[in-house]
Amino acid sequence: MEISVVLVKPDGVQRGLIGEVIHRFERKGLKLIGLKMISLTDGILEQWYAHHKDKSFFGGLKTYMKSYPIVAILLEGKDAVATIRKMTGITKARDAEPGTIRGDFAMSQQYNLIHASETVEIAKKEKDLIFSREEIFEWDKKDLQNIYLEDELRG
Ligand code: CMP
Repeated sequence: MEISVVLVKPDGVQRGLIGEVIHRFERKGLKLIGLKMISLTDGILEQWYAHHKDKSFFGGLKTYMKSYPIVAILLEGKDAVATIRKMTGITKARDAEPGTIRGDFAMSQQYNLIHASETVEIAKKEKDLIFSREEIFEWDKKDLQNIYLEDELRG
């Protein structure tokens, strides 16, 4: 099973959408294996957004991501990274498809409510930046047999 990291960004926290975001991923059948509220630091953000460090919006992005606490969510599921990216919608939220989280709740390119890991490798890096070993829970989710075929669970 893949893991993916979702952040409810400062605008999502301010707008009271933490529960909505978690609810959508839970209802989809993804397994919640980590959850925490934290204040991001320059140290974390410089690693998190290393691929954006030369972009004109990098300074503003860091200021925004530090402006209020964020909620980090660690999810597990088959093809979790691509599935969560689809449910998230594109960066420019006002153009995001209705039915996606950004499409349903946001208008901005920067204030786009949530972050979702881009690839499996990036998800691993992001997990290690935010969650310690003790903050990750490998619990037995009893309804996985109703969510996946047995073959899918083994694969
Ligand atoms: P995300 O795609 O999750 O990761 C990079 C973030 O940078 C993006 O969400 C936005 O919050 C922000 N971002 C991307 N493009 C711009 C832009 N042109 N101006 C301001 N912020 C941006």
